[in-house]
Formats: sequence, structure tokens, C-alpha cells
Amino acid sequence: MEQYRASTSRYESMSYRRCGGSGVMLPAISLGLWHNFGSVDNYDNYSQIAFAAFDNGITHFDLANNYGPEAGSAEENFGRILRNGLGAYRDELMISTKAGYYMWPGPYGDWGSRKYLIASLDQSLKRMGLDYVDIFYSHRPDPATPLEETMGALSDIVRQGKALYAGISNYNPEQSRRAIEILKKNGTPCLIHQAKYSMFQRSPEDGLLDTLAEENVGLIAFSPLAQGMLTDRYLHGIPADSRAARGMFLKKEQITEEKLKKIRQLNKIAESRGQSLAQMALAWLLKDDRVTSVLIGASSVKQLKDNLAAMENTGFPSDQLTEIDRILKED
Ligand SMILES: NC(=O)c1ccc[n+]([C@@H]2O[C@H](COP(=O)([O-])OP(=O)(O)OC[C@H]3O[C@@H](n4cnc5c(N)ncnc54)[C@H](OP(=O)(O)O)[C@@H]3O)[C@@H](O)[C@H]2O)c1
Repeated sequence: MEQYRASTSRYESMSYRRCGGSGVMLPAISLGLWHNFGSVDNYDNYSQIAFAAFDNGITHFDLANNYGPEAGSAEENFGRILRNGLGAYRDELMISTKAGYYMWPGPYGDWGSRKYLIASLDQSLKRMGLDYVDIFYSHRPDPATPLEETMGALSDIVRQGKALYAGISNYNPEQSRRAIEILKKNGTPCLIHQAKYSMFQRSPEDGLLDTLAEENVGLIAFSPLAQGMLTDRYLHGIPADSRAARGMFLKKEQITEEKLKKIRQLNKIAESRGQSLAQMALAWLLKDDRVTSVLIGASSVKQLKDNLAAMENTGFPSDQLTEIDRILKED
């Protein structure tokens, strides 16, 4: 197989945003490997997605120990992509991984103990063939482990050089504030919070965005397309090759008539802006400069390119925002 060589124009069209008060700039659009990069997927397809992403200025690739399926295979496959050429650009990449959900049997393969986090990152580094990741996240808060222990593990990982920065994911505003405080006290400040945020999931607006802005911590919005619902994917039924048809994390039952009514109305607004619905959904998040990056998934290069074009128009007149709010709040 021929080695990948990055396009020389890769930094021309992407914009980069500062992550909180740190020295790190992240691309406005980042690529997540939760789906489409597992052992059940096709190497040629997903390697082309990763290469096209980097060719278009996406420098940030997000993984977790359990991404696949099977769990761990997305990291292994990303390791293969790195070996097949992307790794030559290691210093141009921000690679993240996480631990916090079930990974292996017994009491040490889940949640937020020091034992689990440190062992899991060592496994992730082996799977990807890396000496370090750029960001290591606590994937979710653990109600049974002292927060000092979980954050202490992140801090030690950073001090050991196995990750350059620490991050948290799925923490509520109060938990975030405490975690940020501990990491600050440890001398390894929290870089970023990874939160579910889209037109269909606006809970970060209830305190999290404000907390992170006050603390000068970045926010990266995951599932910004609501797993594909905020695109044209389901406008005319449920395609056989869609995430909803696979039914693991997005169920057919979630594509309700009520949701479709909103999707159709939002699609009309997108059309009036000269955008696809996916582009408008991403632009709607990027209009807020507290959002450092939107973390998309893509099952094809075509979807990736559609999403990249979101950056061409991220401005919204106030009447359009009011209309979007009305549609989203409609019963
Ligand atoms: N921290 C956490 O707990 C957590 C949880 C979830 C996700 N994440 C991160 O967030 C990343 C993104 O999550 P996500 O995959 O749910 O994001 P998403 O961008 O909301 O959904 C991606 C899916 O939408 C469809 N799609 C994307 N672009 C499209 C387009 N232009 N037109 C039509 N359909 C399009 C594709 O589905 P089809 O397969 O149907 O084509 C694609 O796989 C993950 O990879 C992961 O890195 C983090």
C-alpha cells in the first residue's frame, strides 16, 4: 500500500480556536472515531476519511479505550492509519483518548479509579503505537471514587508525559468546577470539557458553558449532529446503511414523527441559508465562541466534506435564531 502524504494546502481553509486559556488551538471541526473505525468497518473507507480530514486541516482526532466495536479496535485501527502515513505528521496532530466506561472484567476495568485510568492509558498507547497522547480524559464522573483520586491520576499521567493535557467529559457544572479546582491545585490545569451539545441536546446552556467560560476551560461539543438526526439522513426514511438502522446507539424509535417535524422545518431554514442541515447544525454551535470545536463523526468522505463546508457561514441573523428556538421548543 502506498504511504499517505498530506496535502500541502491542509491549513488553508480551517479555522483554529483557542482552547480556554491554554496555549492549544483546536480546529473548529474535529473528528471522532467512536463509530465507523472499528473492526466491523472497512479500512479503505475509514483511512480515507482520516486522511481527508487531515488534508482539510482537521488536526484533532478523538478516541476512547472502548471505541469500536469491538472495544479497542478503533485505537488499533487508528494505529494502523498512523503507521500508514499519518504518523509522519505526529507533531501536527492532537490525539485524545479516554477511560471511564466498562473496558475489561473485574473491579479495575471501569469508572474512575487511579488503577483503571493508568492501566487503560497504557493499553491505549500500545494499541495506537504512541508514546503519548495529547489529551487524556476522565470519560465520566465516578460517584464512588473520590474526585481527588480520579483527578490525581490525570495529573500524574500528565507529569509522566503519557498525556500532555488533562480533560473531563460528561461532568455536570458542579462536578466540573470541583474537578477543575483540583487539577489547578495539582499544577496540571484542565484543558477541556467534552460535552454532548447540539440543537437537540442543549443542556450545556444550563450552566456548563458559563462555568467553563468563567474557569477559562475549553468546550468541545460531541455528537453535534445528534448522531445523524440533524442531517438529511432520515428525511426520507431510515437508510439501510445508517446508524439508526444498525440500532446500537441510535434506535429507530428515536426518529419519531415529532423529531422529523422539527428536522423538516430546520432543513427548510438551512436551505434558505444555502446550507445543508448538517452544515447549519454545526454552524449553529460554532456561532458561540465558547465552543472551541465541534466533534463530528462521519461514515464517508462525502459526509466529512459536507460538514467541513459549515465554516463558510457561521453567522445567524437574530430572526433566524428566534425561529430555530421556536422549532426546537415546539411540542
Ligand atoms: N465523551 C463522550 O461520552 C462521547 C460520546 C459520544 C461521542 N463522543 C465523541 O464525539 C464524536 C462524534 O459523535 P457522533 O458520531 O455521535 O457525532 P455526530 O456528528 O452527531 O454523528 C455522526 C453521524 O452522523 C451521520 N452524518 C455525519 N455527517 C453527515 C452528513 N453531512 N450528512 C448525513 N449524515 C451525516 C453519520 O451517520 P451514518 O452512520 O448514519 O452515516 C455519522 O456517523 C465521537 O466519534 C466521539 O469522538 C464522545
